[in-house]
Amino acid sequence: MQSNTPSRDTFSGKFGIIAAAAGSAIGLGNIWRFPYILGENGGGAFLLVYLLFVIMIGVPVMISELLIGRKAQLNVFGAFRKLAPGKPWFLIGVMGVGAAFLILGFYAVVAGWTLQYVYYSLTNALAGNTPDQMIQVFEGVQSTKGWSLFWTLLFMTGTAYIVSSGIEKGIEKYTKILMPLLVLIILVLNVRAITLDGAMAGLDFLFNPDFSKLNSDVILEALGQAFFSLSIGMGVIVTYGSYIKKNESLGGTALSVSLADTLIAVLAGVAIFPAAFAFGMAPNQGPGLVFVTLPNIFNQMAGGYFFGLLFFVLLSIAAFTSSISLLEVVVAYFTEELKLRRKQATWIAAGIMSLLAALCVFSDAAFGGFDYVSSNILLPIGGLLVVIFVGWIMDKNLPRLEIEADGKKARYYSGFRFIIKFLAPIAIALVFLNGLGWI
Ligand code: PFF
Repeated sequence: MQSNTPSRDTFSGKFGIIAAAAGSAIGLGNIWRFPYILGENGGGAFLLVYLLFVIMIGVPVMISELLIGRKAQLNVFGAFRKLAPGKPWFLIGVMGVGAAFLILGFYAVVAGWTLQYVYYSLTNALAGNTPDQMIQVFEGVQSTKGWSLFWTLLFMTGTAYIVSSGIEKGIEKYTKILMPLLVLIILVLNVRAITLDGAMAGLDFLFNPDFSKLNSDVILEALGQAFFSLSIGMGVIVTYGSYIKKNESLGGTALSVSLADTLIAVLAGVAIFPAAFAFGMAPNQGPGLVFVTLPNIFNQMAGGYFFGLLFFVLLSIAAFTSSISLLEVVVAYFTEELKLRRKQATWIAAGIMSLLAALCVFSDAAFGGFDYVSSNILLPIGGLLVVIFVGWIMDKNLPRLEIEADGKKARYYSGFRFIIKFLAPIAIALVFLNGLGWI
């Protein structure tokens, strides 16, 4: 009854869906990217704008993507082609598949660093380093291309292995174990961070907004970060939506996933900033925040070996469950549109992504470029087109029917409809054009 392709794999139930979708959303974006972007963009005020975007734009875009996927029962490309036959909306799918390649390109490199830091933590190689030596270690990790490539490829292989095993027996099975573990580890780190002497200054930086720090670049960064962190604007959620059974709640799923994602980002901030301030380290040191500041902190605190190891294991887990979803977007497209078998599709996609990742290992410009173009350009454009599609193009009754397919009335529907027809498209377009300096 669910689909026109009866053999299509699905998530077994609510917990599986949330684990997989939250697993996609919660990743390096929350723990590596969010704290350093917030640190570079002034702290508390960025957090407020970010939260506003998550609630007003993120959740409605996520519901829209879920309903497109579940209605069409197809990959992101096929979904738009099926729902708007003969029209160019399938280009959203093309863009999404392209964005998946770019994102996993640089993402796998950072994930490779996390594996490398798990190894350093295990072998206690960071113990006793001065802050300067810690910077040298991080620079060494980035400049020793051979090793960087090795860890990146190892990460890609692990990701491909899980995806090649399918939805229920692969993605769902692993995320169900990994996500609860992740929450547990981050809570332990929070307790450690806020009980340090001098933790208050960090909490102040994170929660006390200084609005003079806001400008159009910062606001575009916050929008880009919200899209990146929630995994929206590129088809991951459309693809996962297509594996959700009709009796599950789409609104509930979007809300739980967004809440969990935001909570983990804030908890990551609470783990990182109080510790950074307690040990007199700058909050705005960019991508090295996690890799330089934290090992310094671990070095100086009781139980540092244990907490350091836990932290980098946590980061790797988060990276795996997100990369799985990025690869799945492409694999779903390859299997359904190009008629490849899942294993074949997985290894071909992972092979191409590994080449892009290798490019990012060897070129900082490629690394930064892939990140900026995907987060601040492709994802907002994707999100904008998705809300326009659901608000203005789809048959008027379809979104409501799909959202209420679980048999429950969606009391929030008129608010949702207003946001996706007017508020979200206007807000995304304004922030986007303003951030690029076009208006
Ligand atoms: N949301 C992931 C994170 O925060 O790390 C990254 C990501 C996954 C972005 C999937 C986009 C995506 F489609």
